[in-house]
Amino acid sequence: MSENNNKPQPGMTHAGKPLRSQAWFGRQDKMGFYYRSFLKNSGTPQDQFEGKPVIGICNTWSELNPCNGHFRTIAEHVRRGVLEAGGFPLEFPVSSLGEVTMRPTAMLYRNLAAMDVEEGIRAHPLDGVVLLMGCDKTTPALLMGAASADLPTIGVSGGPQLRGVYRGQIIGSGTNIISMSEQLRAGEITLEEFHEAEAGMNRSSGHCMTMGTASTMASMVEALGVGLPGNAAIPAVDARRNEMARLAGRRIVAMVHEDLVLSKILVREAFENAIRTLGAIGGSTNAVVHLLAIARRVGIELTLEDFDRLGRGLHCVVDLMPSGRFLMEDFYYAGGLPVVLRQLGEAGLLHKDAPTVNGKPVWENVRDAECFNPEVITPLEKPFKEESGMAILRGNLAPDGAVIKPSAASPELMKHTGRAVVFENIEELHALKDDDSLDIDASCIMVLKNCGPKGYPGMAEVGNMPIPKKLLQQGVRDMIRISDARMSGTAYGTVVLHVAPEAAAGGPLALVRNGDMITLDVAARSLHLHVDEAELAARRAAWVPPPLAADRGYVRMYVDHVQQANHGVDLDFLVGRSGSPVPRDNH
Ligand code: FES
Repeated sequence: MSENNNKPQPGMTHAGKPLRSQAWFGRQDKMGFYYRSFLKNSGTPQDQFEGKPVIGICNTWSELNPCNGHFRTIAEHVRRGVLEAGGFPLEFPVSSLGEVTMRPTAMLYRNLAAMDVEEGIRAHPLDGVVLLMGCDKTTPALLMGAASADLPTIGVSGGPQLRGVYRGQIIGSGTNIISMSEQLRAGEITLEEFHEAEAGMNRSSGHCMTMGTASTMASMVEALGVGLPGNAAIPAVDARRNEMARLAGRRIVAMVHEDLVLSKILVREAFENAIRTLGAIGGSTNAVVHLLAIARRVGIELTLEDFDRLGRGLHCVVDLMPSGRFLMEDFYYAGGLPVVLRQLGEAGLLHKDAPTVNGKPVWENVRDAECFNPEVITPLEKPFKEESGMAILRGNLAPDGAVIKPSAASPELMKHTGRAVVFENIEELHALKDDDSLDIDASCIMVLKNCGPKGYPGMAEVGNMPIPKKLLQQGVRDMIRISDARMSGTAYGTVVLHVAPEAAAGGPLALVRNGDMITLDVAARSLHLHVDEAELAARRAAWVPPPLAADRGYVRMYVDHVQQANHGVDLDFLVGRSGSPVPRDNH
């Protein structure tokens, strides 16, 4: 190694460690011929890759996933950055997960995509990886897989769309789709107006531009230190998104030389910073399951209690839909996530020394961040919304926990006792929601079963059940809703989610009947079913598990191995990491 002139020997890192890719391209034998020869079929001269860090650009581009439809351009900018820094880029595809188009739900396939990513990294001659992530589940899937493989890794999010605009009004992904579909059902807008709004909603490349799951997870990438500063909010079509991709390409080559593997970034302090950030941005409830799963891939026992403990007393400083008025484009112009992280740091709510991929502690990246619009990013002492951290509920209805997002809920429903109106599954909900004979009023609590990890299967985003038509027509816009499902990060309402254990696994949710009384008390973190133990035992004895629609293939494996929401909905045999040892020779 030539440390004196700071130039590594070919095939070695600055730290004097052989590059992992040398086990393929550095061989002077039959297999070395194969490995090099097949690269040369693209016209690549040997000096372009020989002895250089090989960087995988893990791309989730797909025409079936329009949120990631611009990723070929982003990959090209990463590629240029890698070349500029003396690395050799190789782009490779992995499963893409389009939130809107995949059925029954993209979440069913998050773990499958994570396996694809992990094994794709391990099997190939890679020294470092750049992850291109955008639509909701692509971010946790890539982080989970990469965490288990544990190479130097940097995350690049695709960026949010520009603001939606319809008839001069700003409209936000998901949030206004939900409100407009309810307006349509209530007869307040026409079908023509509904159609016209569709093109105005998605008018540029990028992922959903509310603080939904995609934007929340892009913020988590930045808060965890896995992405460069600015990752969360730069719009997809802003030239600075491409510049950031190029800088990421340059930086990953240096990370290989520094042996800065992902597990050195994903430390407990990073997760605690992410959880506090989640509260400060009023982020999606989906981040709870994803952060739990990612942490467990690197051996960190994050729990629901961590979310409650770190989120208590946290205030939301970002006035973004679905809770507020603005969109991600506005957030970026106001200064973006670095401003939020600076505010947390000034309040003593940030682990300032947590490492980040640019080699600096997080505080060094954000301490000088300026806010350019205090309406969009409010001061912490004068927050947009108080008490915005996730609240974790427990009680005889959710012994292993349930999640509610107080900042999206109605204050008057945060402590409420009501009569249960039960839907045994999603089909029953759809069949009855517009039925005028449904025995329900605004004080009731809607309960939906069998939509959890095993039951749906895939834990669909159906927890924010539509308000029954007859109540909508009376002007009711929110009610307490309880389920083992998730909800879209763009949704809102007094919605209790992720009830664990789920109904299909025999959790107490399976035992609720029409007419039972339930008390939700968010301040007391309690969810209680007013049915005595003897009656519950009798119902349990009579309970028949629902048939699970999974007799073969991946879905069968998923149902057999998926863990409950409080453990992140990962497959039990995927928890943990085994790194990226070079696989056995194939000759
Ligand atoms: Fe892809 Fe919302 S549908 S991010």
